[in-house]
Amino acid sequence: MEKMEWGPELETGILEIDTQHKRIVHLVNQMQEARMRKDKDTVATVFTEVVDCILSHFTFEEALMEDARYRFLGPHRRVHELFAKKIPEFQARFEADEDISNELHTTLVRWLYNHVRGDDRGYVESVKKFLEDTKAHAQSPKAYKNNVQAAILEIQAQRQPGFLVRLKQAFFPDRNQS
Ligand SMILES: [Fe+2]
Repeated sequence: MEKMEWGPELETGILEIDTQHKRIVHLVNQMQEARMRKDKDTVATVFTEVVDCILSHFTFEEALMEDARYRFLGPHRRVHELFAKKIPEFQARFEADEDISNELHTTLVRWLYNHVRGDDRGYVESVKKFLEDTKAHAQSPKAYKNNVQAAILEIQAQRQPGFLVRLKQAFFPDRNQS
């Protein structure tokens, strides 16, 4: 089974999104390496990590699309939901000791390549414009802050401190955590 390679065709040009996508690719490869070593404990740990990472990423991406008023947010969210629905089945089969790692790997690789190169391309223009506009309004930040706060609260609600910290860093790169 092939290793996932990060390449320009997967780049969206949106720093935080690319960072999150790269992290998912890295974890998928790590899971595959553990599988090749027949290291089941590591497969289990990385599997949990990749699931958390993907679901947090979906939440982040949806918050950003919403703030950017992306007009295909609804269909994009449904694509995420369809994928998220497959996860409990994989988890149940994994916990029942079924060897699903090959199938899981194939599913993740296919899905990531198709989704990132296809669906995610759609929001790039709107999100980039939103990020440019918010940057432009950073000196008089009331509306800007409201938008950012909404995204932060949504992430916070998901109890993903790592993503919250990175989200804040993405929007407030020159400030300390507050
Ligand atoms: Fe997406």
